[in-house]
Amino acid sequence: MKVTVFGTGYVGLVQAAVLASVGHHVVCVDIDQRKIDDLKKGIIPIYEPGLTPLVQEGYQNGLLEFTTSSEHGVSHGDIQFIAVGTPPDEDGSADLKYVLAVAATVATHMEQHKIIVNKSTVPVGTADKVRAQIAEVLAQRNVTIDFDVVSNPEFLKEGAAVNDCKKPDRIVVGSENEKSKKAMTELYAPFNRNHDRMIFMDVRSAELTKYAANSMLATKISFMNEMSNLAERLGADIEAVRRGIGSDSRIGYQFIYPGCGYGGSCFPKDVQALIRTAHEVDYQPAVLQAVENVNVKQKQKLFENLSDYFDGQLAQKNIALWGLSFKPQTDDMREASSIALMEALWSAGASVQAYDPEAMEECQRLFGKRDDLRLMGTKEAALQGADALVICTEWSRFRAPDFDLIVAELNHPVIVDGRNLYEPDAMEEKGIVYYGIGRGQSV
Ligand code: UGA
Repeated sequence: MKVTVFGTGYVGLVQAAVLASVGHHVVCVDIDQRKIDDLKKGIIPIYEPGLTPLVQEGYQNGLLEFTTSSEHGVSHGDIQFIAVGTPPDEDGSADLKYVLAVAATVATHMEQHKIIVNKSTVPVGTADKVRAQIAEVLAQRNVTIDFDVVSNPEFLKEGAAVNDCKKPDRIVVGSENEKSKKAMTELYAPFNRNHDRMIFMDVRSAELTKYAANSMLATKISFMNEMSNLAERLGADIEAVRRGIGSDSRIGYQFIYPGCGYGGSCFPKDVQALIRTAHEVDYQPAVLQAVENVNVKQKQKLFENLSDYFDGQLAQKNIALWGLSFKPQTDDMREASSIALMEALWSAGASVQAYDPEAMEECQRLFGKRDDLRLMGTKEAALQGADALVICTEWSRFRAPDFDLIVAELNHPVIVDGRNLYEPDAMEEKGIVYYGIGRGQSV
């Protein structure tokens, strides 16, 4: 099938490359000329396992094209994906200006029937706005052309995006008629073998499904973080509790890892946006608000642990930090707990020596050159002359470090572990003061 994807960010690029890999002819449109030039050279702007070879292969065999020409993009695809960003407004609601700009562009150039598919995470009711925008531009052009608007939310995880996209758990499609339903079924047929993964519904329900899924996952995490804070105060071990409840298949083992708060471009933004949507319809979402509040507090947890150890005297302290990205297998630092920690440390007059396997450049880009941030080439180098070690991201290379070296390098034998990578008993044996999450130390 002929497909056009507007926006070459995480969602758009992965979707385009995966659709091309199963034989669809995909044109990617982006307004950023440099990005398009880089993509043609096989340079991918993001770190995502498996994406580079997939993009290069698609480009070489001609099934994946990159262009800044929206005219070409619109004339190419029978299906037009909108996969541009929806950054949060100041009040937390999703800013739709890029989505609506693409809708207007499609309407400006279309000469025949198009199916416009919303992939971006957008508030309930956005499809109506997209439809109205297209109708308005067509009216201005004084033409009558049939079109359909479909909601097809994306559920991929960063770091596993290609795999998630190739093997989706479910494909949610909100559509209005049989024609668009049929086209979407045909588009996704290569991903729908063995058992039916297509879930059809009305457009608004599809839009809400995306927010409900992310909010449910965020709820699991905030709930576990709350339990971990309780466990600390009650002398219980959250790891034992996690195993104890995860064994109940109704609860399950996934997404019940307590930590230093959830980050990324999705959970914080989507929970806030859904709260905002609820307010717009005069509803106070008590659970969502609590999920958000617990997370904001949890991101301060590592700083509070350090403060506890050093009796609030953090000025001039030099803190080793392992892990900057919001989770492993990505260089993405959006809403990362490491940022909340670094900012709190800097305000308290401390400095940071950081190491991350992938996010060093991103950290440099975000914070530039400053005296109280040193980016170190290895996790061992980050320990040199440091007063304490803090772990923000569970990269696998942090799981079995040389503890003797850690003790030898640090001025104080203290590890604040935001991801529960080590066992408190083993740390005690090595003479390390260990702060895990919900594992005994209460602050
Ligand atoms: C999330 C969802 O998992 C995807 O299904 C969704 O498509 C995506 O948002 C999106 O809306 O685009 P992602 O943001 O890539 O994906 O990251 P996750 O793997 O879900 O992790 C989010 C955060 O939760 C991370 O900071 C992670 O450390 C934290 N987390 C996750 C926990 O603290 N505990 C857990 O048990 C699991």
